[in-house]
Amino acid sequence: MQTSRADDASSPSAEDFLRNVLRSRLVLRDELQAALRGVPRELRDDARALADHLMRNGKLTRFQASKLLKGISAGLIFGPFRVLTPLGKGGMGTVFLVRDTRSNQLAALKVLLPKVARAEERTLARFRREMELSRKVAHPHLAWTYEVGEHHGVHYLAMEFIPGRTLSKLVNGEGVLHWKRAARLMAEVAAALAHAHEQGIVHRDLKPSNVMITPNDHAKVLDLGLAMMHGEQVDDAKVVGGQGYIVGSMDYIAPEQTLDAAKVDGRCDLYALGCTTYFALSGRAPFPGGTSKEKIMRHRSATPTPLTELVPDLPAGFVALIEGLMSKDPASRPANAAAAEQELRAWATGEIEPPPDAALGDAFNWEALTDAPSSADFALVTLPEGEVTEQPAPAAWSPWPVIFLAGSVAVLLLGALVVALSMLVGRR
Ligand SMILES: Nc1ncnc2c1ncn2[C@@H]1O[C@H](COP(=O)(O)OP(=O)(O)O)[C@@H](O)[C@H]1O
Ligand SMILES: [Mg+2]
Repeated sequence: MQTSRADDASSPSAEDFLRNVLRSRLVLRDELQAALRGVPRELRDDARALADHLMRNGKLTRFQASKLLKGISAGLIFGPFRVLTPLGKGGMGTVFLVRDTRSNQLAALKVLLPKVARAEERTLARFRREMELSRKVAHPHLAWTYEVGEHHGVHYLAMEFIPGRTLSKLVNGEGVLHWKRAARLMAEVAAALAHAHEQGIVHRDLKPSNVMITPNDHAKVLDLGLAMMHGEQVDDAKVVGGQGYIVGSMDYIAPEQTLDAAKVDGRCDLYALGCTTYFALSGRAPFPGGTSKEKIMRHRSATPTPLTELVPDLPAGFVALIEGLMSKDPASRPANAAAAEQELRAWATGEIEPPPDAALGDAFNWEALTDAPSSADFALVTLPEGEVTEQPAPAAWSPWPVIFLAGSVAVLLLGALVVALSMLVGRR
């Protein structure tokens, strides 16, 4: 159940909480003092009441308040980014909604938690690859990465923030998509794939949780975490995949990717596009249930339950297109992503093309996002000691230096006057 309070756990003392707020550097001392003036006297010793007050005044987000109440103050500011709330978690990274203080814009920050990086060299290597490959693409239907870097040893990717929700959450929450809408959205996904393929990039992990659906109902493809350059010389099969090392998501993986994940081309993404469309229409993956091994075998040789049995009133031609995308033999799929896009678009005719999404202005109320995941299980990046330092108390203004300075000047002037006068008198 959603509670209106900042946190359910037992609260620290008000003093400890306020110290944490200052340590986090999210709110400066003066700003904090000013904000606390409005708190009724009887609530000043109640850490939760103070947290709620700061949330109402827009000084802290619910996520920040809940971390601070737990005594966690480090990691809420990460380099130039103020961490607002978690957005999602995947196999590799954690994604946070942040405000980039340089531009004051919202952004999505994908970080590789140092704990994970240390534990799994492979994951770090994959994250590094994602950082490199993300820079090569820019397309309206692909999440745009504007910066990659390392801050105190923590790797990150800063991307455009895409409000909305993933296709998997959308379908699981609101039910399956009408086929015309699915055709339009999947055409947009195909356009994103065509762009990636033109840059030589094969995605290899297209699936409903890697497709965001925006407020105006457009698709944006996420996550180049398992992507590779077509024909790339593979140094480490454990990182990139290869014989004996299958990489991909078992519900959406192309048969050839299960045989040698490093030898695939863009057509493996078309298979995943077919499976993703199958999910959008039916609410289930083509081969639900079973172990990973069983799924792999079914992608290689089993036929999924025909869509016509799962979804009433699907046009036969549209079903044929999806089955074509899901052909076991890559040569039987549409020739390339651009061709798939065209065919999908043809089925979307009559669908009203929704306007592009508006830029997120200052008034954008991200807190109204229904989809922000519960913050409890999102660990923050722990930066090395010393990164978060207590703010020095703001220098209080004191009149004494001014009085001292003015006094000294006056004494000097007086002295000069006396000397001048005595010289004048002496001359007479
Ligand atoms: N740019 C973004 N804007 C909004 N939410 C995002 C963005 N990028 C990722 N997410 C959310 O975070 C989740 C994990 O991101 P993803 O890049 O898929 O990471 P992983 O490689 O760990 O799977 C996504 O499923 C989505 O819910
Ligand atoms: Mg993902």
